[in-house]
Amino acid sequence: MENGGSRQATMAELQEVQITEEKPLLPGQTPEVAKTHSVETPYGSVTFTVYGTPKPKRPAILTYHDVGLNYKSCFQPLFQFGDMQEIIQNFVRVHVDAPGMEEGAPVFPLGYQYPSLDQLADMIPCILQYLNFSSVIGIGVGAGAYVLSRYALSHPDTVEGLVLINIDPNAKGWMDWAAHKLTGLTSSIAEMILGHLFSQEELSGNSELIQKYRNIITHAPNLANIELYWNSYNNRRDLNFERGGDVTLKCPVMLVVGDQAPHEDAVVECNSKLDPTQTSFLKMADSGGQPQLTQPGKLTEAFKYFLQGMGYMASSCMTRLSRSRTASLTSAASIDGNRSRSRTLSQSSESGTLPSGPPGHTMEVSC
Ligand code: BEZ
Repeated sequence: MENGGSRQATMAELQEVQITEEKPLLPGQTPEVAKTHSVETPYGSVTFTVYGTPKPKRPAILTYHDVGLNYKSCFQPLFQFGDMQEIIQNFVRVHVDAPGMEEGAPVFPLGYQYPSLDQLADMIPCILQYLNFSSVIGIGVGAGAYVLSRYALSHPDTVEGLVLINIDPNAKGWMDWAAHKLTGLTSSIAEMILGHLFSQEELSGNSELIQKYRNIITHAPNLANIELYWNSYNNRRDLNFERGGDVTLKCPVMLVVGDQAPHEDAVVECNSKLDPTQTSFLKMADSGGQPQLTQPGKLTEAFKYFLQGMGYMASSCMTRLSRSRTASLTSAASIDGNRSRSRTLSQSSESGTLPSGPPGHTMEVSC
């Protein structure tokens, strides 16, 4: 348990730092205050930022970002997307920064033992206890998707739903390690992480987005910390999902991956291992490796359907466009706040056809 000098913290020792941030406003929006907190956990301190106020009888939305990013660089384009506002105004949001990834984080001392992904997952109960939140809907990308899945496996009663983007639930095999070592001989850490985040096609296309993220990562003052998170990701254990087995996600899950994204095969395999009545799979066209950055509109629409399937969004909240797209479909969505029994949401983005599932429980997101 000893980790970088950290030790078991009592609640009385939890520390709080409050920073009020400026958040650019969208037309017609009222300002929302973001508060950043830090709490001590058995594995060191963790920082998270809370937007909005808790809504009675609703879970918090909790996000966990991927390697090379922090909550802002990973999720800001999605959470500040126009159509997303009508969704998130109904939820308090908790955006976790993995240790050492928060803005202005000092570089960890040499020899600091960075938490494993399992230990990062074990920090989440400290955050929820501090905030007095009892349940969450998680949105995680890459390493963050793994962390949230691990948390959901150990605390299934507190996770109402999961949106997992680019999840790879498998530990690296020896072939992956060999490839990783070879790449490491010729590439910098920053380039390796960029190769994890984006497709080769995107990287060679060198769009403005790629230039921006290459610049952020290459010049990150906390690059040494990022490398530690990267190492933890590469040393992850197998999540051992097993369809019909004991190790499985019990809540509704929306798996998302860009077509031709680096993790496409891993997400497809993950889909095959999860409970099909609880899992929807969204392969997004034209989205590259980071759909939440490149296709916030499509992801917002899919997220809205996902929440509807859980009974959290009244169909009257759907945009006219969304309603017309689903006009021929029936939906399991129920009245806002009155959660439906069915939690199944199936989506197909590629062929436009709908996967099999119980009638009345199927929705489509056209991508
Ligand atoms: C939010 O409103 O939850 C949010 C705003 C900015 C960045 C990330 C999230």
